[in-house]
Amino acid sequence: MPYEVQGVVARGKGEAVTLETVVVPDPGPGEAVVNVQACGVCHTDLHYREGGINDDFPFLLGHEAAGVVEAVGEGVTEVEPGDYVILNWRAVCGQCRACLRGRPWYCFATHNATQKMTLADGTVLSPALGIGAFLEKTLVAAGQCTKVDPAARPAVAGLLGCGVMAGLGATINTGAVTRGDTVAVIGCGGVGDAAIAGARLAGARTIIAVDVDDRKLDWARGFGATHTVNSREADPVEAIRDLTGGFGADVVIEAVGRPETYKQAFYARDLAGTVVLVGVPTPEMTLELPLLDVFGRGGALKSSWYGDCLPSRDFPMLIDLYLQGRLDLDGFVTETIGLDQVEEAFGKMHRGEVLRSVVVL
Ligand SMILES: NC(=O)c1ccc[n+]([C@@H]2O[C@H](COP(=O)([O-])OP(=O)(O)OC[C@H]3O[C@@H](n4cnc5c(N)ncnc54)[C@H](O)[C@@H]3O)[C@@H](O)[C@H]2O)c1
Ligand SMILES: [Zn+2]
Ligand SMILES: [Zn+2]
Repeated sequence: MPYEVQGVVARGKGEAVTLETVVVPDPGPGEAVVNVQACGVCHTDLHYREGGINDDFPFLLGHEAAGVVEAVGEGVTEVEPGDYVILNWRAVCGQCRACLRGRPWYCFATHNATQKMTLADGTVLSPALGIGAFLEKTLVAAGQCTKVDPAARPAVAGLLGCGVMAGLGATINTGAVTRGDTVAVIGCGGVGDAAIAGARLAGARTIIAVDVDDRKLDWARGFGATHTVNSREADPVEAIRDLTGGFGADVVIEAVGRPETYKQAFYARDLAGTVVLVGVPTPEMTLELPLLDVFGRGGALKSSWYGDCLPSRDFPMLIDLYLQGRLDLDGFVTETIGLDQVEEAFGKMHRGEVLRSVVVL
């Protein structure tokens, strides 16, 4: 029997989200139905709602979630009912050219559920990032479920499912930050602060947080920023150079997703340094840079999707570090809310009042 549950749907570009009855099929071969216990509100959900990702409305929002497996379909061996899992949007295929070369964190053919979740009238929903977890029960590919230690409460565990993993991985995996590096992070929301936490974990010597909002800079200090720069008040490129002996940072993480902040990142890094773009731009944005500067400054310009994470490797490891008190995940949860408060949470995110609002079910 298909399940009928409540979920948060974006029906059209810029329209307020609504709570709708969603029909969730029983899991088919290779699929699992998960009782969602918590799901964070990520800026990418707002990007979907604003039509900044694509036009496949209506979207079923929510994609940073933890919960308990309710049922599995035929042939599923990786999880069973009762398992405590974080949902991931990188269920690797094992067969694409990246997987075959031993680099599954770049998998180009990740798995999602084959069956569709629909509205009560049969309208097919597009689940955000192939998940859709502002929903009491959701249908995913079994490989999208990563088992972790149930001692970590769902509101924090779920955050590893997207934004916090993206930020941590942008420094640790993509930026390869290591002991003694200088790091700057532009944009200190949930993703940027996770990048800061990652830099601290990796042993960075100097960690410079840049934002336009002083409240965000206060929070950034709590996650390990050694210096903060309000870029409404000071030129961030000069400030970062001043704080790094006049040279620029070894690694600069851009966690806003705008051309002007990307340019700041580009010029705020040392020669042969690395820029990591983790913020998501919108389709109309373009970037113009002198090609001579791209050449002359050397180093690496990288983008980081999901922190180049491999969920099976990274989620259990990061949960262990959290449980040992070595990684502050609680600090990202500004508030817990109900399913009917996602629209309000978008407003709070927009006004900079929260790092993460987390829907708890
Ligand atoms: N690459 C990935 O895999 C991935 C995963 C999740 C989220 N994201 C993206 O990362 C970005 C950040 O997400 P978030 O959830 O942290 O969002 P957020 O809204 O919580 O944080 C954005 C931060 O940027 C700051 N900011 C805005 N304009 C700025 C400017 N000009 N200079 C400096 N700071 C500025 C804001 O004050 C805010 O603190 C979004 O674009 C989101 O879509 C990417
Ligand atoms: Zn693959
Ligand atoms: Zn996200």
